[in-house]
Amino acid sequence: MEVVIFRDEEQVAERAADLLVRMLSVKPRAVFGLATGSTPIVLYRQLIERNRKGEVSFSGVTSFNLDEYLGIAPGDPQSYRSFMDREFFDHVDIDKARTHLPSCEPGDNPQLVGPRYEAMIRKAGGIDLQILGIGQNGHIGFNEPSSSLVSRTRVKTLTPRTMQDNSRLFDPGEIQPRLAITMGIGTIMDARSILLLATGERKAGAVAAMVEGAVSAMCPASILQMHERVTVLIDEPAASKLKNREYYERAARENRALKERFGEFYADG
Ligand code: GLP
Repeated sequence: MEVVIFRDEEQVAERAADLLVRMLSVKPRAVFGLATGSTPIVLYRQLIERNRKGEVSFSGVTSFNLDEYLGIAPGDPQSYRSFMDREFFDHVDIDKARTHLPSCEPGDNPQLVGPRYEAMIRKAGGIDLQILGIGQNGHIGFNEPSSSLVSRTRVKTLTPRTMQDNSRLFDPGEIQPRLAITMGIGTIMDARSILLLATGERKAGAVAAMVEGAVSAMCPASILQMHERVTVLIDEPAASKLKNREYYERAARENRALKERFGEFYADG
């Protein structure tokens, strides 16, 4: 796990955008796993800007989002489909027919959505780069604490903590879904590389548990310790509870030097 600490969220997003753009220069038809939440919005803005300037094209990209609420229609402004259209897809040259979310259409059996989504990911050749945020309780996607560490895409019940954390995004009177369909932890772990972004002091506890805690279903993100190619990009406040911070900073410097000398894909796992 490579942990890289930046001054602020803009710098985190900038590095993440660099990595995505670089991947597209090598593989223009890359398959991305995408995330919602407030954290990746800054990244999406930077990618939109680079696309507008002609520095990158998403025309060959296929994408699979991590999760979607159950019980609200994809056209509802609170759906993650609407979020992705609003914050990213509507502003870049991506082919929307190749952007996917594990949405449950009215009349769909939610139990079948997961296996269908998994089959689509396999058919696309698997995910090259998965973008992740992290919940304050350590969740990735909507894999809440106690989720099976080998789970696949399925329905999850949201914890009271997650409901509380996300309530800021709902107006009074709006119905806040209590269920979601999320890629499983096993699905996420199948991605060939993973980029986790975390910013702000409220993420410091989850980041410390993920990087320095024991691997445990009670902190689902801690499973990333078992993945070969994970880069964690965080800002100063999100890094504030890490014990071995100086080591990560030194390792990031060494890795940068090695990459400059031997090429892009050297990484300190
Ligand atoms: C949400 C999403 C996650 C996201 C996390 C953090 O509920 N399901 O994919 O990473 O919670 O969100 P934010 O970036 O808004 O803090």
